[in-house]
Amino acid sequence: MRCLSAADSVVIAAAAHRLREGQLVAFPTETVYGLGAHALDPEAVARIYAAKGRPAHNPIIVHVADVEAARALVAEWTPQAERLARRWWPGPLTLVLRKASSVPDSVTAGLPKVGVRVPAHPVALALLQAARVPVAAPSANRSNEVSPTCAAHVVRSLGEADVWVLDGGACAVGIESTVIDVSGETPVLLRPGGISREEIERELGITVRVAAKATREDEARVAPGMMRKHYAPKARVHLVPYGDAATLQATVDRLAQEAQLDLRQIAVLASSATLRQANLTECALFLASSDPSVYAHQLYAYLHAVDERGCAVLVIESTPELSVWDAVRDRIQRAAAQAEIS
Ligand code: TXA
Ligand code: MG
Repeated sequence: MRCLSAADSVVIAAAAHRLREGQLVAFPTETVYGLGAHALDPEAVARIYAAKGRPAHNPIIVHVADVEAARALVAEWTPQAERLARRWWPGPLTLVLRKASSVPDSVTAGLPKVGVRVPAHPVALALLQAARVPVAAPSANRSNEVSPTCAAHVVRSLGEADVWVLDGGACAVGIESTVIDVSGETPVLLRPGGISREEIERELGITVRVAAKATREDEARVAPGMMRKHYAPKARVHLVPYGDAATLQATVDRLAQEAQLDLRQIAVLASSATLRQANLTECALFLASSDPSVYAHQLYAYLHAVDERGCAVLVIESTPELSVWDAVRDRIQRAAAQAEIS
């Protein structure tokens, strides 16, 4: 593991060379840090799965510098892909399309389709341009851990691995890209993200289908990435209803009693209005923003901080039911689902 400043152009050139040689480089994107490898080199891709401890049935997103490079990776570039790419790339949107034969099966976990995206971070773009090869990159964390939104998170999660980490500061978006399958007639939303279903529907002028969440690992093979055991901190996560300070208070009191926890071992992530109504001053308090994009930006840093402080339990106030909260709600529900699956 080497952590290097991404501000240095010599570092970018050396990292690009390392990628071409089949080695791993973690780099910042606007969503989360990615763990990159040469996407057309099966041995390099195998290093990603090994470093992350990632199950072989979970496909990896391929990152490229521009639309042209994305088109080279797919068998059919559809009109919907063209519209969405022109509107949101570079940006936090992954398009799933039928793959070209050059894309190794290990990248797509044996599926006939590949996920492609042009990231908006200047370091990611500089690296992709210098590497001149497509870069497969899942989030740069051990499998089932919380995605990294700064270089220190990557170092903590993958410190043992033979990886260079390009430090480009904190990620602006903070949660992973929206993933949408645009290979057929009806687009299918596979993972909610910063770009909402409504925005995509408005752009395409048609209704988008939302893929069902898999509740068991084998169902996840049909709809990869919908696995619920994902994005989970080590602390046990409990969700309480939005705007219900009494239930939040009762939950904290019950957990403290049942597990004989000191209140300082209980973390609470809730809105300022709810925190004001409850009396939780001894708990480790994290303030939930009322703005969904600010909340998304802070969420993973909070989940990492909860573990760093050694909190045993995290109680999260759910979000409002509005669709602008879909991506954040999806991630906190997945964090809370850990106990049901493992
Ligand atoms: O924002 C992001 O998407 C970040 C940054 C690094 O780009 N990457 C990321 O990768 O979150 P990862 O591996 O943690 O999530 C990849 C997910 C899969 O779990 C699946 O949901 C979807 O992307 N995906 C990738 N390739 C796919 C494919 N061929 N078919 C269906 N879904 C695919
Ligand atoms: Mg991930």
